[in-house]
Amino acid sequence: RITPIILSGGNGSRLWPQSRALYPKQFLALVNEKTMLQNTLERVSDSSLYSAPVVVANEEHRFIVAEQSRDAGVELNNIILEPVARNTAPAVAVAALDALETMGAEEDALLLVLAADHVIENLRAFENAVLLAKQSALESKLVTFGIIPDQPETGYGYIKAKGKSGVQLVEKFVEKPDKITAEGYVASGDYYWNSGMFLFSARQYLNELQALQPVMHKSCVNAYQSAVKDRDFIRLDKGSFDECPDNSIDYAVMEKTSSAVVVPMDAGWCDVGSWSALWMLGKKDENNNTIQGDVILNDVKNCYIHSEKSLIAVVGVQDLVITESDDALLIAHKDCVQDVKKVVERLKESN
Ligand code: GDD
Ligand code: MG
Repeated sequence: RITPIILSGGNGSRLWPQSRALYPKQFLALVNEKTMLQNTLERVSDSSLYSAPVVVANEEHRFIVAEQSRDAGVELNNIILEPVARNTAPAVAVAALDALETMGAEEDALLLVLAADHVIENLRAFENAVLLAKQSALESKLVTFGIIPDQPETGYGYIKAKGKSGVQLVEKFVEKPDKITAEGYVASGDYYWNSGMFLFSARQYLNELQALQPVMHKSCVNAYQSAVKDRDFIRLDKGSFDECPDNSIDYAVMEKTSSAVVVPMDAGWCDVGSWSALWMLGKKDENNNTIQGDVILNDVKNCYIHSEKSLIAVVGVQDLVITESDDALLIAHKDCVQDVKKVVERLKESN
């Protein structure tokens, strides 16, 4: 069986003001009545395919993770707690170390690494891709899941495959290219988006990490070996994890490895990364607006408007995101929603 590893330690700052440091987006119900984390847990609940999942999250969020899993009726294997965020490459490393420890030294474990903030509409297509990927992971490949791109998104990784269908060797992996490069990739038709989900053996990932990022590997081993177990929580050692370099699995491993393959996946995948993604996913009125809560419109097109407590009236505008939380209001052009995180950075600096 495969062990799902759910990465739940991002801060979701592009979805401010709903997503906050204390309560980031993976813990919010953004697309249906369940939270993003709960939807992710449900996706891997088939016990014939998967063992109990492991969540890797920031220490601050330990009770939210425990409570949301319990409410979703999911028994977790472990909750690994990071004292500081060091991005996804170390988060996966400590989960891999934990999987090996749990399985016993002789055995290897297959890990399905998932983000806690994705939407996947077609569960069967997702499972079929996972089953196809499993064969390659058993042969020591690092498997990525490729999505056919429909726009030159700069927030994603791009994968050039050697081949056209089925499991394909990765020729090139480029994380977050600039706009012009992304446009070239999409126009060429030769690239997939990296979905940000991975399947590989714990041992293979750790071997690659040790070869490619020895300092990071060492810090993760230290942080895990000196971790404190406290019921379901595994608290990584702060001193060692503090010293760990900060980097994503994409830059630290996937761009550099020669063992990567890609499995195409057409499963209605979407990274709920920004307000425009929520507009795209949302139900539209006749003028292509998505509205939630108490909203009244006159001559408004292509907007996403979300009210939590006051009435929001909007007149004569297009392509805006307007969203209100308890104590803040965001108004942004739909083409600039990636920059919401810059506002959050400025707020942090001024606090
Ligand atoms: N535990 C933990 N610790 N989780 C983290 C951390 C961390 O320090 N940082 C991020 N995460 C979690 C996020 O909560 C999210 O679920 C997942 O890891 C991915 O992080 P993002 O920050 O959302 O990554 P991204 O969207 O910029 O890029 C990745 O996903 C894209 C597709 O959604 C990359 O893999 C891209 O190549 C990919 O295209
Ligand atoms: Mg993301």
